[in-house]
Amino acid sequence: MTVRTVSTTPFADQKPGTSGLRKKVIAFQKPHYLENFVQSIFDSIGAPAGSTLTVGGDGRYYNREAIQIILKMAAANGFGRVLVGQGGILSTPAASCVIRKYQTFGGIVLSASHNPGGPDGDFGIKYNIGNGGPAPEKVTEAIFDRSKTITAYRILEAVDVGLDVVGETPLGGMVVQVIDPVSDYADLMETLFDFGAIRALLAGGFRLKFDAMHAVTGPYAKEIIEQRLGAPVGSVMNGVPLTDFGNGHPDPNLTYAHELVEIVYGDNAPDFGAASDGDGDRNMILGRGFFVTPSDSLAVLAANATRVPGYKAGLAGIARSMPTSAAADRVAAALGIPCYETPTGWKFFGNLMDAGRVTLCGEESFGTGSDHVREKDGLWAVLFWLNVLAVRDQSVEAIVREHWAKFGRNVYSRHDYEGLPLEAANELMKHVHDSFPSLPGSQLGSYQVQFCDDFSYTDPVDGSVSTGQGVRIGFTDGSRVVLRLSGTGTEGATLRIYLEAYEPDVSRHHLDAQVALAELIGLALQVTELKARTGRDQPTVIT
Ligand code: G1P
Ligand code: ZN
Repeated sequence: MTVRTVSTTPFADQKPGTSGLRKKVIAFQKPHYLENFVQSIFDSIGAPAGSTLTVGGDGRYYNREAIQIILKMAAANGFGRVLVGQGGILSTPAASCVIRKYQTFGGIVLSASHNPGGPDGDFGIKYNIGNGGPAPEKVTEAIFDRSKTITAYRILEAVDVGLDVVGETPLGGMVVQVIDPVSDYADLMETLFDFGAIRALLAGGFRLKFDAMHAVTGPYAKEIIEQRLGAPVGSVMNGVPLTDFGNGHPDPNLTYAHELVEIVYGDNAPDFGAASDGDGDRNMILGRGFFVTPSDSLAVLAANATRVPGYKAGLAGIARSMPTSAAADRVAAALGIPCYETPTGWKFFGNLMDAGRVTLCGEESFGTGSDHVREKDGLWAVLFWLNVLAVRDQSVEAIVREHWAKFGRNVYSRHDYEGLPLEAANELMKHVHDSFPSLPGSQLGSYQVQFCDDFSYTDPVDGSVSTGQGVRIGFTDGSRVVLRLSGTGTEGATLRIYLEAYEPDVSRHHLDAQVALAELIGLALQVTELKARTGRDQPTVIT
């Protein structure tokens, strides 16, 4: 087996976004495209010779091919060992768990998360550092810089390595170790949650449905929910991972997880419904005929954390991304612990968790997690809820309504406008920026603008500064509208409009969020001139 050094030229578009490099599959299939990016990673991270790397992905189309390339390049770049999930599978939280448990130098996670897969779909690659979390911006920037000047990559000439049987295979001077992708993760979950209590809940007739959306959590959910917790077989639906996710959009929200939503809102509905995304880091939580917003979910879990074994000592602090509602802030204030507001993207939570400043983190985009790993974690959130339900013996809806009665309700919704022409979307954001001087103090309907700014964040641990993280328009009553362009899409631009109003009055807690937020929604359309600029006034997805 010989190492080949292959000449190449840079691609200009290898800048990692909110969560790694995401492109259409066909972009990754271009000669040298994946190789350039992988070499840029290896050239930037400074792994000592003989280091161990973790590699796995969500099983989407091109996962296996990409892994073979990465293994051969790792061997040619001096790695000593690669831990790879059987069949090339590792959910994103499981990859984080494996990196931490076996203290590998870092990991490469192959996923485009909730984006559709298949030959015409999306693919993605991201690098995680030794704490198990997504590389921070200084690392992703170094990778991007390297990708702009790369002239060659190294790859071993070898036959493909078998990935379907657990065991070790030599590859050049390196060892490929195929590991069970589920067991380390499932064992970690058993250390955090009271499986006995959840088992008893399920044995008592509590019924649940978990929708794996034909994506990576299928084998994890079957092992944990059906095997270890004893839920009846069939509690996990769409549990076989498919390379194209059954042609679906593996995003656990009310729009894309409609199959589950129909069950949970239908006749003879189960007590609990949940779904996870393509790579297993997102979660949606439903009670019978009741949707829990991710922002509320974070707040409820925080308020109930000490009822759960892994968190019984209490929380060090909470962190939420800026567009996430302030529901968690109210819980943090009541608990007397800090609440940090970070930019969008899980990578901003890593330093806070490493420094022991926060235990729970969450994003409005169906992401919740804790310091047990350094990624958000879909099944973890499901198990946390089940543990709380087992202890409290109340319905999901009753728990959330009680929470609102105590803390007030942060009425919340996000409106996504997908597939906008890039230029129109950029112009729209510029227009809002240009309105900054005139907005504060102005009266818009019954709302008065208190401030508007472009969110920037100084990491309290390492002092790094991230600017341009989304426009905030705050009103005097504490309501707000936030505007951002997505950093994960691969087609055109996606405008996200985040809407939030605080409602302390219990008699108004039953209102549908879209009704309660109607005036704010109208104001957002007015301020952005959305219709005139894009021809659209109806969002593609409402969550
Ligand atoms: C989206 C979410 C963000 C999340 C990211 C990765 O990013 O909004 O909260 O961290 O996906 O799952 P965006 O497309 O908004 O840049
Ligand atoms: Zn994901």
